[in-house]
Amino acid sequence: MSSPAFSPQEIIIKKRDGGALSKKEIEFFARGVSDGKFADYQATALLMAIFWRGMTPQETAWLTDAMMHSGEVIDLSDVPGAKVDKHSTGGVGDKVSLILAPLAAACGLKVPMMSGRGLGHTGGTLDKLEAIPGFKVQLTVPEFRAILKKVGTAMIGQTPQVVPADRKLYALRDVTGTIECIPLICASIMSKKLAEGIDSLVLDVKFGKGAFMKSKDRALELAKAMVAIGQVSGKPVWAQLTAMNQPLGRAAGHTTEVIESIECLKGHGAADLMEVTCALTGHMLILGGVVRDEAGAQKKMTAAIANGSALEKFRQMCVAQGGDPKVIEDYKILPTANKLLEVKAPADAKGFVSEVDALKCGHAIMALGGGRAAVTDQVDHAVGIASLIKIGEPVSAGTRLCTLHINDDEKGARAEAIIREAVKLTPVVPKQEPLIQDLIQ
Ligand code: URA
Repeated sequence: MSSPAFSPQEIIIKKRDGGALSKKEIEFFARGVSDGKFADYQATALLMAIFWRGMTPQETAWLTDAMMHSGEVIDLSDVPGAKVDKHSTGGVGDKVSLILAPLAAACGLKVPMMSGRGLGHTGGTLDKLEAIPGFKVQLTVPEFRAILKKVGTAMIGQTPQVVPADRKLYALRDVTGTIECIPLICASIMSKKLAEGIDSLVLDVKFGKGAFMKSKDRALELAKAMVAIGQVSGKPVWAQLTAMNQPLGRAAGHTTEVIESIECLKGHGAADLMEVTCALTGHMLILGGVVRDEAGAQKKMTAAIANGSALEKFRQMCVAQGGDPKVIEDYKILPTANKLLEVKAPADAKGFVSEVDALKCGHAIMALGGGRAAVTDQVDHAVGIASLIKIGEPVSAGTRLCTLHINDDEKGARAEAIIREAVKLTPVVPKQEPLIQDLIQ
């Protein structure tokens, strides 16, 4: 048996001392994580060294490529049409994927979407879809491909064969304080997206209280790093920078977000949610060559919602993935909470909403049992927030701040207290920051 060309400790020491790793060293690391030549303690030592010392753009590109090739790279070349996906770095109330995928498919794109589960205060698309009775997210690649061909979109979980190195590395990062590292986030996200078989990609990089990246500068740095990886891989990637200080739309949770998403596809979406969804879908339509510009995209999207074709795509996707399409007409078939708890402004309240802290709203969902502290936790799909008040809206005594869907009075009381802390008032109409702040191409 030939001995490996490198030892893990040499690679760790090189990075610890600020050196740049070679392509071969990075490949040895990505492979070694999967085949066990890099023990968990060595992998975490290297992750921490990368956290402190960083990586050059070239090292990040090599790491992305090595991680992508640690498993199956899906070939969708036999699926006709432009294959464009969207990925969000996550937030609270971010149900954009549920609206965008059928909308983009109705406008003529193929949307092969591999999504994730919620963790901590942020929600996950797969958990939301699983609120729909029967909806299967764990499909094989041939099933994924067949639905994509037939319907135009399929939304599934990552298969165990795709980017196994990330599965291992993400789990290690999660428990060793090495998540918030731009080269590692960049390689983690981009390796999974590039392994999906896409032609191009739109990223929604969130920043603010409810986001991973708290500052716009860090979000911009991450966006630029991911767009650069796209350039190296020959896949056009555009990254939108979106503020995530208050939850997107008026619902957060699972059942509550599915209902809000279907309402958007019926033409009754909240303004902020539709602004972000249409901007991202528009970028996808331009990248996929369906339209030439934003005005063309807007026209197509407006028509797809008005003529019901976007909602019809959602219905077709539900049917293809085993979900009950009756959900479109009858929200009562979704998991339903025992009780609704209206959170109302106190008797002395007067003014306008200046803040609806997205992080706190995420904590309220967790307090209700609708979040996941560890990857193995089960979520309660029925609980959540609906009819949430938005920044700028007037408040007086008794104004509804939100409706909590609860299954337990004690948990409901805890969530109510958190919501009361999350909503702040000001005597005058507050100045609002733009939701969409940049587009990196
Ligand atoms: N999402 C991912 O998939 N990976 C990260 O590292 C961070 C967010």
